[in-house]
Amino acid sequence: MQDYEQAHAAAVRQFGAECAVLMKFNGSFPLKEPGEIALFGSGARKTVKGGTGSGEVNSRYFVTVEAGLEAAGFTVTSKTWLDAYDSLYEAARRDFIRGLKAKARAHHTLAILESMGAAMPEPEYQIPLTGNGDTAVYVLSRISGEGSDRKAEPGDVLLTQTERRDILLLNEQYQNFLLVLNVGGVVDLTPVKDVGNILLLSQLGAETGSILADLILGKSFPSGRLATTWSGWEDYAKLGEFGEKEETRYQEGVYVGYRYFDAVGKRALFPFGFGLGYTTFVYTDPHAAVDGETVTVTVKVQNTGNFPGKEAAQLYVSPPNGAIDKPTQTLAAFAKTHTLQPGEAETLTLSFEMRELASYDESRACWVLEPGDYVLRLGRNSADTEHVAVLRLDREVITRQCKNALGTPDFKDWKPDRKPEAVPEGVKILSVSAEQIETEVVSYDLPEEIDPMVQTLSDEALCLMNIGAFNPGLGALSVIGDASKNVAGAAGETVNCLKEKGIPPMVMADGPAGLRLSRQYTRDESGAHGLGQALPESMMELLPGAAKWLLNKLTGKGKPRGEILEQNCTAIPIGTALAQSWNPALAEACGDLVGDEMERFGVHLWLAPALNLHRDIRCGRNFEYYSEDPLITGKIAAAVVRGVQRHKGCGATVKHFCANNQETNRYYSNSQVSERALRELYLKGFEIAVKESDPRALMTSYNLLNGVHTSERRDLLEEVLRAEYGYRGIVMTDWLSAATPGKGCKYGSPTADKIAAAGNDLTMPGSPKDLKNMLRGLKTGTLTRKQLEINATRVYRMAKLLSKGE
Ligand code: BGC
Repeated sequence: MQDYEQAHAAAVRQFGAECAVLMKFNGSFPLKEPGEIALFGSGARKTVKGGTGSGEVNSRYFVTVEAGLEAAGFTVTSKTWLDAYDSLYEAARRDFIRGLKAKARAHHTLAILESMGAAMPEPEYQIPLTGNGDTAVYVLSRISGEGSDRKAEPGDVLLTQTERRDILLLNEQYQNFLLVLNVGGVVDLTPVKDVGNILLLSQLGAETGSILADLILGKSFPSGRLATTWSGWEDYAKLGEFGEKEETRYQEGVYVGYRYFDAVGKRALFPFGFGLGYTTFVYTDPHAAVDGETVTVTVKVQNTGNFPGKEAAQLYVSPPNGAIDKPTQTLAAFAKTHTLQPGEAETLTLSFEMRELASYDESRACWVLEPGDYVLRLGRNSADTEHVAVLRLDREVITRQCKNALGTPDFKDWKPDRKPEAVPEGVKILSVSAEQIETEVVSYDLPEEIDPMVQTLSDEALCLMNIGAFNPGLGALSVIGDASKNVAGAAGETVNCLKEKGIPPMVMADGPAGLRLSRQYTRDESGAHGLGQALPESMMELLPGAAKWLLNKLTGKGKPRGEILEQNCTAIPIGTALAQSWNPALAEACGDLVGDEMERFGVHLWLAPALNLHRDIRCGRNFEYYSEDPLITGKIAAAVVRGVQRHKGCGATVKHFCANNQETNRYYSNSQVSERALRELYLKGFEIAVKESDPRALMTSYNLLNGVHTSERRDLLEEVLRAEYGYRGIVMTDWLSAATPGKGCKYGSPTADKIAAAGNDLTMPGSPKDLKNMLRGLKTGTLTRKQLEINATRVYRMAKLLSKGE
C-alpha cells in the first residue's frame, strides 16, 4: 500500500468509530483485552462495506468483522458456524440469481435491468450456535442499492425467524453479548429490543471490521447519533404513497420522520438524534440570547462517567401554531464536543437565524415567520429535551418573497391536530423584534452570460458541449459503466474533441462512499482502459456470459495490453453513517480525503454527495443519503463539499435534485409534492449546501416532479436553484435520463433538446441520440442557440476553472 492509502485507511478507521451509534448498553463492553469470541450472523464474514450500484467503491482491500477481530488478537471460536453459513449462503445466492434470470426471461428483459439493486433476502436456517468463551457477537447485515427499494419483509426491513431466535438465545447464553447492525438502513428491532447491547455499526467502508474491533476493545468509543428515526415498521407513517409505479403522492406534507412521530404523539423505539456512549454526560448552565435575528444558546456539557466520550447537543424549536400548521418541533442547530475525558467539561455554542424557522406560505408564495412563541428545547435527542427559553416574536415577518414555481399535486397535504403546548413556569422569555428581520425580495432576472468563444462554435460543436462525451462507434454501449477516455472507471466526462479550442474535458466519477474508479487499468493512444469493473460487481454477475464478453471486448476490457497501472481509492463510511457522526468537521475531513484521491487520479467532479431525504425507510438508496431531516442533511453535505473543493481542480456534485426518494420505476415515477413540502424539506438540504459550500455541480434526478421531469424543469433550475439560492455551478442530468425509452410507462423520457432548453447544461453521459435531438430541437424551435450558448458558457468556464486547478 502506498503512503497516502495508509494515511487514508488510518483516517477512516478513526472517523468510523464516531459514526457508530450505541443503541443499547448494559456496561459489559468495552472488553479489557482480546480473548475468545463466538461470532455469528450474516455480516460476520460477509460484512458489508457499503451498498450496491454506482455508489460501490472498488477498493484494494476491505476488512471484514471476522478479519478485524482476528487482527486485533481475538480467537474466533465459532468457525464451524461460519463455514456452515457460507455454504448455505452460496446455495441461496445461486437460487436467487437463477430466480432473477427466470423473472427477466418471463418479462422479456435483461436480468441486469429487471433486478438492478435487488437484494437477496436473508435465508432461514438451522445451524447450531457452537462457540466458546464468555463473549459473543452477532453481526446482522443488510444490503441494498440503486434500482430497487427495500421490502417490509423478513430478511430485509424485518428480522427473519432465524435471526430473532439466534439473537435472543445468544443474549441469554453469553455474559457479554453484542448485537452489531452492519446495515445501511432501518431494520425493525422490535423483537430484539430487550437485548442488552446493540451497536449500529453501519457500513463504514474499507476498515469496517477493524473499527468494530477498536470499539469492542475500547480503543475508540461510539459517539454517533441517529440521523433517522428507528422504530417498528408498523409505527412509520403510511399517510403518503411510496413505491408506486406512476404517481407517488407525498400526502404527508412536511410530516416526515420525527415530525410525523411528534405529530401523532408516537414514541419511537429509538428516536431521531438518539445514541448512547460508554460514558454519561450532564448539561448545566444553559443560556439563550438573541442579537438581531441571531439566536445563540450555550450549554456546559460534562463527562460524568468513567470513559472518554463525545456528546452531540441538539437544539429544537417548537414554533407557534398560526395560520399555517407546523411540526411540534424541528432541529434548529447542533454541536458536538471534542473528546471529553472523565470529569472534563466543554461549553458548546449552538446558534441559528430566526429566518431559518420560517414556514412557506403557498397562498402568498413567501416564507413567513408567524408571530407568537418559539420554544427553544435543548437536549440529547428529539425525545429528550428541556425548555431553555421562549422567543416571543411581536408580529408577522415575511422573510423572503418568492414565486411559486414547482407545480401542484392533485391533493392537499395532511394536517395534524396539534394542541398548543404549555410552556412550564419560569422559562425565560426573550423578545424578538420583527423590525430586526429583513424581507428578502428575490430577483428572477438572471444575467445571461455568453462567452465570446462559444459564439464561434458551429451548432454541432455547441450541442456537443451540452452533452457528455460519447463514442459514436459504440452506440448505446458508450453509456454503460465507465464512459471516460481519460480516467478508467470514471462515470463520464465532457467533450474531448474541442480540446484544441481550449475546452478541456471534465472527468466525473462516482461516490458517495469514496471515489469509484477502476482499480487497475492500462493506457494507450486511445485512452485509459479499466481491467474489469466496467460495471459494479453486483451487476456483472447478472449479465449473461456472452454479454459480459461483448461488453469487455467493446469497452477495451479483457486481456491487458501494456503496463498495468493502479489507482487505489479508499472506501469511506456511507452517507448515512457520516450524518450519524453529527460532526460536520468529520464529514469535511472525509471530503478532503476524497478530494486528495481525485487530485491524484485526475477526476474533476465527484458525483456526490447525495442528499435526498430518508422519506421512507424502504428507499433502496437511503444508505447513500444522510437523514430524514433537512438541516443535518444540508450541514453534512456542505461540509463534504468544502472538503472536496479544498483541492485544486476538484468539485463536488450535489445530487439528485429533487424528490428522488424511491427507486421503484425511478426513471418514470412522478413525485407529487406540495410546494411547501418541497421547499421546507426536499429542497432545503440543497439550499443549505449551495449557500454554505458553493458546489461546482448539481445533478438533476430521474423522476418527474408534479408531472414534469426535473431535468426539464426550467422553473426548478433557473428560478429556484439559480435565482433564489444563488447557485453558480453547472447542472447535469443523471445518467441515461434521456436514453431509456419508458416502454409501457405513463410518462415518456426526457429529451436532450428540452433538457438544454430548461437551462440544464449537460445531458449525461451523452449519446448520438442526444446530439440528434438537440440538432432537431434547434430546427423545430424546442431549443434556441442562445440557450445552448448560455449552457455552454457555464460548462466552458467550469472546465477552464477546474483544469487550471483553481
Ligand atoms: C445514479 C447516479 C450516478 C450515475 C453515474 C446513476 O445510475 O443514479 O447517482 O452518479 O449513475 O454513475
